Amino acid sequence: MTTIQRRDFLKKSTLMSLGAALPPLLLAAHGAEAQSNNYRNPLAIPPEVTGEYQGGRRAFELSLEHGQTQFLSGANTPTIGINGAYLGPVIRVNRGERVSFRVRNRLAAPTTLHWHGLNLPAVMDGGPHQVIGQGEIWEPEFEIRQSASTLWYHSHIHRGTGPQVYQGLAGLLFIDDPGLVSQGLPTEYGVDDVPLIIQDRSFRRDGGFLYLSNMHDRMAGMHGNRILVNGTYDPALAVTKRLTRFRILNGSNARIYNLAFSDNRSFIQIASDGGFLDTPVVVSALRLAPGERAEILVQFDRGDRVFLRHKPLPRPAGAMGMGMMRMMAAQGTQPFPIMAFTAADISGDLTIPPDLTPNPTDTSAFGQTVTTRNFRLDMSMGMGMMAGRANGFTINGQSFDMGRIDVVSKRGEPEIWRFYNGSPMPHPIHIHNIQFRVLSRNGNPPSSNERGPKDTVLVDPDETVHLGLRFEHYADERTPYMFHCHNLEHEDQGMMGQFVVV
Ligand code: C2O
Ligand code: CU
Ligand code: CU
Repeated sequence: MTTIQRRDFLKKSTLMSLGAALPPLLLAAHGAEAQSNNYRNPLAIPPEVTGEYQGGRRAFELSLEHGQTQFLSGANTPTIGINGAYLGPVIRVNRGERVSFRVRNRLAAPTTLHWHGLNLPAVMDGGPHQVIGQGEIWEPEFEIRQSASTLWYHSHIHRGTGPQVYQGLAGLLFIDDPGLVSQGLPTEYGVDDVPLIIQDRSFRRDGGFLYLSNMHDRMAGMHGNRILVNGTYDPALAVTKRLTRFRILNGSNARIYNLAFSDNRSFIQIASDGGFLDTPVVVSALRLAPGERAEILVQFDRGDRVFLRHKPLPRPAGAMGMGMMRMMAAQGTQPFPIMAFTAADISGDLTIPPDLTPNPTDTSAFGQTVTTRNFRLDMSMGMGMMAGRANGFTINGQSFDMGRIDVVSKRGEPEIWRFYNGSPMPHPIHIHNIQFRVLSRNGNPPSSNERGPKDTVLVDPDETVHLGLRFEHYADERTPYMFHCHNLEHEDQGMMGQFVVV
């Protein structure tokens, strides 16, 4: 058989063996840009909160609550939000500031609130060990010691992160750096500095969210068949500035996007997960895995009507010939629109801010003989996995255990963490309490838009990724931080480990 025939054959036998467990054919049915008339709902912009500044610290009140949200016309969806019905406000803090939170859990279940991307003491991290019981208040307080960036926060409850985030328990956190005075970047929130939280969801007939209704979603992670941006379905944004900055979060549980515009226009990526890139880079597509963020600058012309869409990537080589898992890895092989932009009335300069200065990082510390730790990612395909038991997703052969410390790192010492993906699916690996550097992918230097501070990195099948990291500031022998796959169903099913910094 030729390769193509063989692929088709595998696909067919895979489909047959999965039978009724197959999800509907996803977004292909949802429509191409041809149905673009639908993209008319004004994009929701999350409210900003700056807290109360008193006694040398910035204090925030957050309430985790149940609500109802109308995403689709004529249907209400039970949701979870922070100070609202779905998602939370954009929390704005300044570098160098002390911040405190009163987080009240008004949900009917225990939860946690994790600060994704922050460098902070382990007891303030909001991981699975910092449970907020029903009706309880949690009051973390810490200092912001890192640079301007787009971070986020979300539930991290043990074995229940996937469903809580899916229902809406997430929001953005911006660090502003008063010392930078924005480098001439667009900063008018909601006007030319616009957050885009991209999420996929499926709905039941009664309007409720559909979560993990089949085996496919348990193994590949929850892939919804409709796209929401900031909680808006079929969204459109009326752009008013020629140069607009978008802060994009892939807030999906499992779906990986390769973002591009429908006219293939290029744009400039200025920041990755934890702040500005070494050098801004012109791209026409941007792959973003769950948990990752990117800041981009886009130029618009009067009269533009353009779509942000998912543009399928060529199939990763490692995903070939592995039967059922091959098909799972093939999620996202159809293009689909995400949102529309219209520019009827625009003003402002076309010029890119001149002082987007290179911000190169020194990775020489990782060139020496430093501690190197190896992590192997696996998915076992046994019957336990089929039954949805939480033991098939492993790091170095072990499933997550809250009572086991997997790694002990020394504060201030450079380390290399080397992740090898032995499974047929890509895994977005996230490490708490750090902005690391991607040193290499399969021995090759990272692409220029991965040369910046990162806290989440996609590891493709059969790929080895080297990360350079050094834990600063905080030490605690008893309270662990997490590192895990940010495909939330993989995390909930055990692809997570714990480390302490001493
Ligand atoms: Cu965004 Cu451990 O998580
Ligand atoms: Cu995190
Ligand atoms: Cu994974």
